[in-house]
Amino acid sequence: MHPIIIAPSILAADWGHLHEQIRAVEAAGADWLHLDVMDGHLVDNISFGPGFCDAVARVATTPLDVHLMITRPDHYWPRFAKLAHNITIHIEAQCDVAATLRDIRAAGIGVGISLKPGTPFSEIEPLLPLVDLVLIMTVEPGFGGQPFLAGQMEKVTAARDQRTIRQLNYRIQVDGGINHTTGQQSRTAGADTLVAGSSIFGAPDMAAAIRTLRAVDTP
Ligand code: DX5
Ligand code: ZN
Repeated sequence: MHPIIIAPSILAADWGHLHEQIRAVEAAGADWLHLDVMDGHLVDNISFGPGFCDAVARVATTPLDVHLMITRPDHYWPRFAKLAHNITIHIEAQCDVAATLRDIRAAGIGVGISLKPGTPFSEIEPLLPLVDLVLIMTVEPGFGGQPFLAGQMEKVTAARDQRTIRQLNYRIQVDGGINHTTGQQSRTAGADTLVAGSSIFGAPDMAAAIRTLRAVDTP
């Protein structure tokens, strides 16, 4: 079981005060910063692209966890290569996903695969040996502040079981509606990497919010 990683999602930050928000969330204990890139095709929203992520990278000191919710990650992933600690792409993308995963890993960047709530876990099973991270979406991707979809926990458990059976070592990440309660549910199901947007950036005390999330380990 990997130690817990807390990855606040910049999507929920106040972009009008981006510099201060990055400094504050890192001081509050963030392990990674999660960057939700959306193209308006794979998901029903447009967020930001490489330029915004470059601006974050100029301020951030923690690893950047880039979540590409785009239909053509094969074409665009190189534009994030310099700044990314890891890059996660979606199985629903319109490209050769396996080849793109291999290309990203060959560039020496951590690589992840993600799936929407409506996509069966079986769709990503053949790709598990190619990744360092499996991202189980616990909301329909596109917006922060949505309610947690508890039905996705079976995919978290399936990812944990497959990792054991196939002696793999990827992290298991959840993303969407994560707070202490849902973080605990996710950890119990097998997750070790928690993305949280509104429960951290919306909290009066971000450090307390991160401590609370990290405490999900405590039995
Ligand atoms: C949703 C994004 C999530 C979202 C999480 O499409 O992928 O990362 O920002 O935000 P909260 O934690 O507010 O659900
Ligand atoms: Zn995300």
